Amino acid sequence: MTTHPSDHIDAMLHESRVIPASNAFTAQARVNREAYDAMYRQSIDDPDTFWAGVAGDLEWMAPWTQVLDWQEPHAKWFVGAQTNIAYNALDRNVARGLGNKRAIVWEGEDGEVRTYTYSQLLTEVKKAANALLGLGVQAGDRVTLYLPMIPEAAISMLACARIGAAHSVVFGGFSVSALSDRINDAQSRVLITADGGLRRGNLVPLKANADAAAQNAPGLEHIVVVNRGSSNPPMQEGRDVWWHDVVGAAEGEHDALPVDSEHPLFILYTSGSTGKPKGVLHTTGGYMVGTYLTTRTVFDLRDDDLYWCTADVGWVTGHSYIVYGPLLNGATVLMYEGAPNQPDWGRFWDIVQKHGVTILYTAPTAIRAIMRQGDEYPNRYDLSSLRLLGSVGEPINPEAWMWYYRVIGGERCPVVDTWWQTETGSIMLTTLPGAYPSKPGSAGLPMFGVDAAIMTREGEELGPDDGGLLVIKKPWPSMLRTVYGDDARYQKAYWGEIRGVYFAGDGARRDPDGYYTVMGRVDDVLNVSGHRLGTMEIESALVAHPSVSEAAVVGKPDDVKGECVVAFVTPQGGQTIDPKALRAHVSKEIGALARPDAIIIADALPKTRSGKIMRRFLRQIAAGREIEGDTSTLEDPSVLERLAAAEAL
Ligand code: WTA
Repeated sequence: MTTHPSDHIDAMLHESRVIPASNAFTAQARVNREAYDAMYRQSIDDPDTFWAGVAGDLEWMAPWTQVLDWQEPHAKWFVGAQTNIAYNALDRNVARGLGNKRAIVWEGEDGEVRTYTYSQLLTEVKKAANALLGLGVQAGDRVTLYLPMIPEAAISMLACARIGAAHSVVFGGFSVSALSDRINDAQSRVLITADGGLRRGNLVPLKANADAAAQNAPGLEHIVVVNRGSSNPPMQEGRDVWWHDVVGAAEGEHDALPVDSEHPLFILYTSGSTGKPKGVLHTTGGYMVGTYLTTRTVFDLRDDDLYWCTADVGWVTGHSYIVYGPLLNGATVLMYEGAPNQPDWGRFWDIVQKHGVTILYTAPTAIRAIMRQGDEYPNRYDLSSLRLLGSVGEPINPEAWMWYYRVIGGERCPVVDTWWQTETGSIMLTTLPGAYPSKPGSAGLPMFGVDAAIMTREGEELGPDDGGLLVIKKPWPSMLRTVYGDDARYQKAYWGEIRGVYFAGDGARRDPDGYYTVMGRVDDVLNVSGHRLGTMEIESALVAHPSVSEAAVVGKPDDVKGECVVAFVTPQGGQTIDPKALRAHVSKEIGALARPDAIIIADALPKTRSGKIMRRFLRQIAAGREIEGDTSTLEDPSVLERLAAAEAL
């Protein structure tokens, strides 16, 4: 296992700017320095009192007898308590007078706008809950969602939670086989999809993909179809039902089911360094408390904010910071269906101006893509409603941070760089701007209850400025509970790498002020445009193609995507490899997001005498760097020269 620094990382290591929030922001901040210091201290020294205090803001149908039961590596939070997260997000907010407040403001890519107040959203969720019950979904079941960014995605998630069924959302960009694998792994009997979703003016054929996936998902009994695109897909009698029929006809009354605090809330599949994607399992109580607190404090959320997170609900950011965290806080959430460059690169700023967005949470890849188009797009719009900006998903290079701060935030809005993972459930590292100044390129300080450290592989804790592995030393409420159906993998991948601590899989360093700079994955996981991809998954897809004998996939630093996919492939005896066909094949196997940016065809791969592919050298070749390191362990070192000379296709 090696760290692979990129130019971005070098730039970060030399970054020394310190940018405090404005006096105006600091003066009214929800969490100022004193509060942060006191809260952080208590969250570490006396976590039970701290978390019980936060949980007390929410409603529980039965109290806990113990805040935390930790039998490493298994945690139970709010032991014995009963609650329902959909109840807390909706009924509770309606009961405290927010019924007429807007919960979701949705804008379609085609410009259509739909708004749901908290009361309206509650009614829709109750109807959807009744519709799911009508299809035979029971508490404890899993329901797979394969939806575009439409309000029905949030409604479906909340409806599942309301009846105690776990949702498994599959990103709409995933392929047919990725979808059927996930349906089968979760043993879902019901799939909720749409005829399609609008992306760059086209309708992504979700229902057609769902039909094809159903061919390989024998346990699937029903497909519920939202009519988004009026495209009239074929409906299979007895299996397929329209959302507007079943939800439309359902009763508008439903009492949320009280579930145990540790009742499964959702599964979300994510890539690891080995094998097939892991079904990260989150449960109810701790996740609810973690997303509630972080949304409130990190985004300094107020009653009159219009909060916009540009993620897709298919990723964890969409789960925690479009749906659960903001709605638990009674916020008004903006949801946008389409691409950032539709009809042009001004779309985000048009939305900010039109709706008066006050908080914007987006990814470095989007910032860099927009930055490339020049300042004229943002400069055409009035962005003065914005008061806080956030970044998530990958390291943000200081240049992009500064552009975001200056051009989008007008040097008025603090920028929160938030580090976390599908597994952590909620934000783990970020600098609360009312408390401490930001350092561009560094996520910064730990959130409440996060006992982070930098360690060596052997578990030795490192001091300031030493680069090493990012670990978390204590359990936290929103942590994953297991890998669905594979607890051994959970134990090994997260708590077995370094004894007694949670291993994040990221390389990082901490400066003398305690700020963490996360440098990127130290395993074979790529981060392409903020999307996690396992090199193994792409390699298996490549070798499944008849023309390919062997494949090795590595990441290469990319100015916009952060990292891009480079595939080294050797042909199957006598075959020619057609790069176009191979890319199409990977799209079909995994999804367009995994398509290699460059394909290098080789007669052999650099292997040790024992047959292990040395990806370290491939990374150097992909990046066009000189070969560094000991090549003497290679079976045939001359392979490297031939690869370096080969043309990328
Ligand atoms: C990376 C997304 C640096 C990291 C919420 C992590 C980041 C992986 C940051 C998780 C950040 C996320 N700075 N790196 N602010 N945020 N990452 O599961 O490598 O899709 O391990 O969760 O993204 O990706 P995931």
